[in-house]
Amino acid sequence: LGPKPLSGRHVIVTSGPTHEPIDPVRYIANRSSGAQGTAIAAALVDLGASVSFVTGPASVPPPPGVRVLPVETAAQMRAAVMEALPADAAVMAAAVADWRVENAAAQKMKKDGSGRAPALSFAQNPDILAEVAGLGADRPRLVVGFAAETEKVEEHARDKRARKGCDWIVANDVSPATGIMGGAENAVIVIDADGAETWPRLPKDEVARRLAQRIARALAWKEDA
Ligand code: C5P
Repeated sequence: LGPKPLSGRHVIVTSGPTHEPIDPVRYIANRSSGAQGTAIAAALVDLGASVSFVTGPASVPPPPGVRVLPVETAAQMRAAVMEALPADAAVMAAAVADWRVENAAAQKMKKDGSGRAPALSFAQNPDILAEVAGLGADRPRLVVGFAAETEKVEEHARDKRARKGCDWIVANDVSPATGIMGGAENAVIVIDADGAETWPRLPKDEVARRLAQRIARALAWKEDA
């Protein structure tokens, strides 16, 4: 492979958290910074890919050279991903909220003086990774998901790969003792149809670089096949 093995390839990357509104001024979020997804998008650009970067409200800026598709909610993220298709590969690194507030208020909620708190009810969000992996003719040839686990990392990641129908799962151990969540380093296991590959603990940029190289090789092989 040359220095730009992904030139002419389109890759969709999801990144960051989603925000799920409670009312026009309040939302439910999670602690994802978007750091790993951003590093992956940058590494794909370095290898020549054209990247559609579908990002929730992240705490790091998007990398140069990508087409940025900013979203807030899981529903918006799903719509942006579907509109960005077709793609050669999809890398779903976003921390998508599992639930949205089903009874979000159209106006700012007010205390009513009774001392009672409002009750929120939740509805399950669409699973974007599973949906993209399950597409027919429009399915990207390579669909990569992530799994953040705190125990039995490899076993849970294998189950997740089967359940979601994606090609690879990049799994990491995010239990507090590892210091990975919010840190600069990551230690991952890459699960594919052939088994599990355990990578050493590396800076997130280096994990991204290796993953981009692996994606380039996989797309080249799939071309030959
Ligand atoms: O099921 P879980 O959230 O652990 O799966 C994580 C993987 O699935 C990540 O790749 C994440 O981006 C993706 N995902 C998604 N849509 C959801 C939930 C998770 O694309 N609603």
